[in-house]
Amino acid sequence: MRFTTPTSEITDEFSKIVGANYIFIDDENRYTYSHDKTEDYSFLPDVVLKPGTAEEISKILVICNEHKLPVTPRGGGTGLSGGALPVHHGVVISMERFNKILEIDELNLQATVEPGVITQVFQEAVIAKGLFYPPDPSSRGTCFIGGNLGENAGGPKAVKYGVTRDYVLNMEVVLPTGEIIWTGANVLKNSTGYNLTQLMVGSEGTLGIITKVVFKLRSYPQKDVTLLVPFSTSEEACKAISAVYMVGITPSGMEFMEREAIERTIHYLADVMDSRVQIDLPPNIQAHLLIELDGNDEGVLMKEAEIIMEVLEKFEIGEVLFAETAQQKAELWKLRRNVSPGVNAYSLTKAEDVVVPRGSLPELITGIKQIGKAYGFNSVCYGHAGDGNLHINIMKENISDEDWHTKVNDGIAEIFKLVAQLKGTLSGEHGIGIAKRPYMHLVMPEVQLNLMRGIKKVFDPNGILNPDKIF
Ligand code: LAC
Ligand code: ZN
Repeated sequence: MRFTTPTSEITDEFSKIVGANYIFIDDENRYTYSHDKTEDYSFLPDVVLKPGTAEEISKILVICNEHKLPVTPRGGGTGLSGGALPVHHGVVISMERFNKILEIDELNLQATVEPGVITQVFQEAVIAKGLFYPPDPSSRGTCFIGGNLGENAGGPKAVKYGVTRDYVLNMEVVLPTGEIIWTGANVLKNSTGYNLTQLMVGSEGTLGIITKVVFKLRSYPQKDVTLLVPFSTSEEACKAISAVYMVGITPSGMEFMEREAIERTIHYLADVMDSRVQIDLPPNIQAHLLIELDGNDEGVLMKEAEIIMEVLEKFEIGEVLFAETAQQKAELWKLRRNVSPGVNAYSLTKAEDVVVPRGSLPELITGIKQIGKAYGFNSVCYGHAGDGNLHINIMKENISDEDWHTKVNDGIAEIFKLVAQLKGTLSGEHGIGIAKRPYMHLVMPEVQLNLMRGIKKVFDPNGILNPDKIF
């Protein structure tokens, strides 16, 4: 047996460490922490702990390391690759009590935050000071900063401002062996040895448990312009994206949505959220780009919008919607943010998160549809197309369970092979977790995987922390 299960002596020790109110072994809690937003996966932990300090986590990990008990750290449970699922049962450490913004340092444009802070709460706290934390996952209302760090979350602003990792300066981390370290320094430049901070970001909770993070911030852009552009085909929309960049403009959002993504989301918003978003969807329109420009000078933004319009007119577009009011802009972004819940509301899906060089998007989207036809599945595509990052939701609907677990997976492998051919990779922002793990060899040779395995071994010699994720 590679791992053990916690004995009653061990759970007593856990109880002494975290306090009797923060240990859960009842069925209901175990079930709550057995799943996230990944397909219909569910793995029951033996025990759920909600520690309140790094020292408590350290004590827990020392015990787990000694007894070879698997430990799975967990944030808001919004993951789409199964990163927070306790596949070997054991202990789930929920970070929900680490919910404090410790400091917003306006002198240095930095903030020190605990990982259980909800991303939107942090965004709004810095906005209140005129500052900007750009990473903006669609799940921002419920996801945790710690999960964003684990998966290196992105979102629509990444196309101009970068992803979570681009804002991390330093982190306090508890290692699987119990030591508590800081990974770097609170500085904007750092050439001091290997970059442990960046190694930790995106490591999906396999190398250590983050207990504090120091972010850098920006000043908040005061103005924005938002356009919704309809296209006759998805390929046409994807071609237009590169054309915009080629004239030297960097939008702060360049989102792609297939017609079906919009239709399903409008229906979901009205049906479940009692919220009506009105978009004209003439029959000849198959895809949209949601484009945002931001900055501090309205004149500059309007000029850029004009240049974009000149570029777009060379493509097969319909009537462009210029969002006039803050409310109209908010509605468009609400639509975009709700595509994932909207598409997932009425069917089980497999959610892919591939990324290719931007110019290869037209070929990718054509290929995905061809593969879907050949393997018998419908896919609904949308995503951060300015980054070449496409979310592909494969709909189960009437597909048999048998085909869902075999033929559809073969089709997904074909999509990943196409992505690799186009010099892309498996995930842009959702991570590998368990869901994409079987496909890692399609984009990474054994040498590279072995380097990763070696790093894992150095941090976690007994392999107790979030085992069997990524590779
Ligand atoms: C989005 C999430 C699913 O872009 O990444 O909506
Ligand atoms: Zn996304």
